[in-house]
Amino acid sequence: LKKIVLADRETEKMGIPELLQGYAQVILPKTFFINEDDFVRLARDADAIITVLAKVEKKVIESAEKLKIIAVAAAGYDNVDVSAATSKRVFVTRAATAHIGGVAEHALGLMIVLSKKIFAAIEEVRKGNWDFRNTPQAIGKELGGKIVGIIGLGNVGVALAKKIHSFGLQVLAYDPYVTSDFAKSLNVNLVSLTQLLQQSDYVCITCALTKETWHLIGEKELKIMKKDAFLVSVARGGIINEMSLYQALSEGWIAGAGLDVLELEPPPEDFLLLRLNNCIITPHIAGLTIERYGDCGRLAVEEVKKVLEGDIPNKENLVNPEILNIAKK
Ligand SMILES: NC(=O)c1ccc[n+]([C@@H]2O[C@H](COP(=O)([O-])OP(=O)(O)OC[C@H]3O[C@@H](n4cnc5c(N)ncnc54)[C@H](O)[C@@H]3O)[C@@H](O)[C@H]2O)c1
Repeated sequence: LKKIVLADRETEKMGIPELLQGYAQVILPKTFFINEDDFVRLARDADAIITVLAKVEKKVIESAEKLKIIAVAAAGYDNVDVSAATSKRVFVTRAATAHIGGVAEHALGLMIVLSKKIFAAIEEVRKGNWDFRNTPQAIGKELGGKIVGIIGLGNVGVALAKKIHSFGLQVLAYDPYVTSDFAKSLNVNLVSLTQLLQQSDYVCITCALTKETWHLIGEKELKIMKKDAFLVSVARGGIINEMSLYQALSEGWIAGAGLDVLELEPPPEDFLLLRLNNCIITPHIAGLTIERYGDCGRLAVEEVKKVLEGDIPNKENLVNPEILNIAKK
């Protein structure tokens, strides 16, 4: 029987153990995220690893003698040391498509909630303060006619751009890895990061978390943004420097922020951004939809089975295609 190590309990929420029943010996971690020592020990004779958000580091990959695939049941794979996997000829796959609609809609939702003061309004009405509508704080802004800047024109960024057009916004994007022709075909203007920050009323972060995008938005970038602009991120924590964002929001460099992702999840109790009225935070739920959540698990299991049966993963889910050119040892 094959042995498959599940690196976090999020895999359980997706029904992955049931999908693998009778197919493999499935090891679930004792705690929500697997403990590193257990991981190294359990990975030693594992054929596959499935993770959602748990880190799969070099140490684990190098100890795994039989490992053929690390399947991420999510779109972002910044939690996996892909180069360590590639050098050991281990496939890394992700669930490239399951989340797209939900995440793009969540970004749009955060933009609307921020613009139309919906969060404050709900709180005030719950307190019995219908009179909130007679205060200047109740007056929102329309999205129509504004400019949105999308950082990262990948699956989510493209879906967001398409949805946003129907709200009557002009769309700019910054992504060093796409061509302006590709952007033009979506009716999107590809610009530099500085131009995007200078011109946008809404800045939406939908890029991958990489070494390059780590703290891509910090003090300098927040100071370039318009004072009445909103910043939204549905991508990954770590792309925004949260200390700088706290300063920007409390000192009025920008109008507000909507975040679905944080550098440390869950955040510590005294997390500064939670104290601000102009910052709304959701607990990494953008991709969780009734319609598609289970698909992340199904896609991951499909790729694992393919690889363990000697096939290669689906092209759109394969993160390290260069592996196909490395001769088998
Ligand atoms: N909040 C959630 O629940 C949730 C769910 C799914 C995905 N995500 C995150 O959303 C993000 C986008 O997902 P996706 O499916 O569109 O991924 P994707 O791989 O399709 O797109 C990522 C895009 O980022 C771009 N990029 C890379 N480096 C960049 C840089 N330096 N500057 C600007 N752009 C850069 C890439 O060129 C690519 O177009 C990822 O960070 C993913 O982890 C979040």
